[in-house]
Amino acid sequence: MSTTSKTNLLLLLLLLTLSTSSIQHTSADANFISATCNRTTDPASCVALLESQKLSFAAADVHGLAWIALQMTTSHASDTLALVTNLFHQREGEPISAPLDICKQLYGIATEALKAAGEGLGKGDYADASKRVGKARDAAGLCEAAFGMEYPSPLTAQNRDVKGNCSVTFDLIGLIPA
Ligand SMILES: *[C@@H]1O[C@H](CO)[C@@H](O)[C@H](O)[C@H]1NC(C)=O
Ligand SMILES: *[C@@H]1O[C@H](CO)[C@@H](O)[C@H](O)[C@H]1NC(C)=O
Repeated sequence: MSTTSKTNLLLLLLLLTLSTSSIQHTSADANFISATCNRTTDPASCVALLESQKLSFAAADVHGLAWIALQMTTSHASDTLALVTNLFHQREGEPISAPLDICKQLYGIATEALKAAGEGLGKGDYADASKRVGKARDAAGLCEAAFGMEYPSPLTAQNRDVKGNCSVTFDLIGLIPA
């Protein structure tokens, strides 16, 4: 057997071992999610967010759950940025394009902050990751406020969901043992 095929065989065995052990964990992990979420400010939202993603059931620790929550939050924020950008172009020239423009910029800031939070989380810089997730949460709140009394916000649901997603993520990062 060549060195390459020996290496490949070892890798294959390693992968098999890893996947078997995650399968064995699966039954315990709904409990792990609820026990972890129980320590956040809004356990029901935390469970709903994590359980909507199958990968959560394979997460071995709080860091893994925080990472999954952050990925979901980032993808909801980028979807919202795409939506806001479309709305802005559709309504160009109308007065509502002013708050839409503000939201487009805020969601640009939010998605960048969430990507940077992912880097912070990867490096173990939890304080930095929390700060950036907090910034994204603030951006969603400011977007909603930008419509003020004058225009009904077309983004109320998205702003609420992104804020909610950020809060869950923020709490989970705060639970990672230092
Ligand atoms: C949640 O926390 C409460 C009190 O801290 C405890 O009584 C309960 O058993 C916990 N539930 C889970 C699912 O861990
Ligand atoms: C997270 O975002 C999704 C989709 O935008 C939404 O369905 C869900 O309710 C949000 N979760 C929280 C806790 O706000």
